[in-house]
Amino acid sequence: MALIHVRNFAKSFDGKQVHKNVTFSVKEGECLGLLGGSGVGKSVVLRSLIGLEKPDSGEVLIEGDDVSKYSERELIPIRTKVAYVFQNGALFDSMSVYENLAYPLREHTSLTEPEIKNRIHEQLVEFGLEDAEFKSPAQLSGGMQKRVGLARSIIIGPKVVLYDEPTAGLDPYNTVKIQEMIQRLRDKGVTSIFVTHDMPSAFAVCDRMALLQDGEVVAEGAVEDLKRDPNGLLQKFVKGEKP
Ligand SMILES: Nc1ncnc2c1ncn2[C@@H]1O[C@H](COP(=O)(O)OP(=O)(O)OP(=O)(O)O)[C@@H](O)[C@H]1O
Ligand SMILES: [Mg+2]
Repeated sequence: MALIHVRNFAKSFDGKQVHKNVTFSVKEGECLGLLGGSGVGKSVVLRSLIGLEKPDSGEVLIEGDDVSKYSERELIPIRTKVAYVFQNGALFDSMSVYENLAYPLREHTSLTEPEIKNRIHEQLVEFGLEDAEFKSPAQLSGGMQKRVGLARSIIIGPKVVLYDEPTAGLDPYNTVKIQEMIQRLRDKGVTSIFVTHDMPSAFAVCDRMALLQDGEVVAEGAVEDLKRDPNGLLQKFVKGEKP
């Protein structure tokens, strides 16, 4: 049984149908690249996995439970299990990096302050962010802010991480750093969906890719197979050719 299963997902906004029948699944420990042009509805699918959007019809299953049927209260534990990495990092501007990382630990775990301190130090060292500890977000470059944002999203140890264009607008150095963070989490068995327009990163971190187009998943396959099949829909999309 797949850990994530989106089945027959349909949704309209203002009378315009964006998702007609989106179906895909992600196995435990796998990283699925979710590709597609601007506006096809990738972010809406990710948001629906933490209950921020609900489909008009269809199912959004995490470990067999349909989170689209959950109340706000029932969603609380889901949000500790499933992390959503926002595009801009979404840090609290008035707090230091340390305080930003401490926030989810204080909110969602029963760790003591010394334990929190250890956890934050471990995380900062693991991701090469030690120098940022006492800085405020405004003192960091955009690339560093995104890396700290990712570190904050995953500090409580989620089982699933949803990445929404985590490398958009980054220089090659920070892009590679983010790729390494994602790979490290994958090595630890985290299941993830990686939404991106950054093809080199998608090829670097994903096991499988799915292409969303006209309200449906029109192609999907293992990254290894994609590299061998230059004429598939996914390859055409990757190369920027008209589908
Ligand atoms: N809350 C909302 N209210 C109205 N329309 C919305 C809402 N959320 C999304 N949409 C519309 O749904 C469509 C899909 O949006 P979504 O943000 O999921 O696209 P996307 O694939 O993530 O695009 P991009 O690659 O540009 O980020 C867009 O046309 C968008 O305007
Ligand atoms: Mg989006």
